[in-house]
Amino acid sequence: LGKEIIYFSEVDSTQRVAHELAKNGVPHGTVVITDEQTEGKGRLGRTWFSEKGKGIWMSFILRPSFAYHQALQITLFTSVVLANTLKKLYQRNFLIKWPNDIYINGKKVSGILTEMHGEQDQIHYMIIGIGINTHQITFPENLKEIATSIQQETGYIPKRIELIQHFFTEFEQDYSRFEGEGFMPFYKQYNDALYGKGRRIQLKQVNQQIEGTIMCIDSNGYLILQEDDGKEAKVVSGDIFF
Ligand code: BTN
Repeated sequence: LGKEIIYFSEVDSTQRVAHELAKNGVPHGTVVITDEQTEGKGRLGRTWFSEKGKGIWMSFILRPSFAYHQALQITLFTSVVLANTLKKLYQRNFLIKWPNDIYINGKKVSGILTEMHGEQDQIHYMIIGIGINTHQITFPENLKEIATSIQQETGYIPKRIELIQHFFTEFEQDYSRFEGEGFMPFYKQYNDALYGKGRRIQLKQVNQQIEGTIMCIDSNGYLILQEDDGKEAKVVSGDIFF
């Protein structure tokens, strides 16, 4: 992983480029990275602000051997790896907002977008896109309250190469375990880093909205909420609002 790195100074989205390359057969572990994205993609059809030289905007290709349900958990696994990497490098409390945002001091510093290609029972390839705000000192008005960067929060001026190398080393170390044993060995670490534990939230899904208190995630990666009547709700997808 990360041995084949394809660099662009500018692309519309590394996610789209990685997809094209994967269709053309590039190997497992190929990374596409850029200085600037003109159409960075976020989750749920949102856009991702990817200012020139201010962050790590990359996508990598996996050709997994595991089953579809595990593919859903790879995003959670990736969040654990990324949070661990950031903690080690910058010695701060990086947390994970379920399912896959990295937070520090109550603001988002990184987001992960996973796309799967294939059929239900056979994944052809996956593309994992990671955006890490490293060097921003200011953000546009609409992001100011919710987004931050490593530099802003820690004072470190991250070295992009160093961060990427640490991330892929850590990812590779744990990935074989993930392939063999699934998410189970990692869900405790995820829970330790879970952002917003004990807080009352609204969970917005496509067709409904649930309110409840964040308890934990289970070994499948489902979010467990306690609703006001005391019942537990297990959720697979959605967006948390505090
Ligand atoms: C999210 O939090 O909504 C996910 C954001 C993912 C952003 C990254 S930046 C590199 C890659 N290319 C994209 O177009 N998006 C992902």
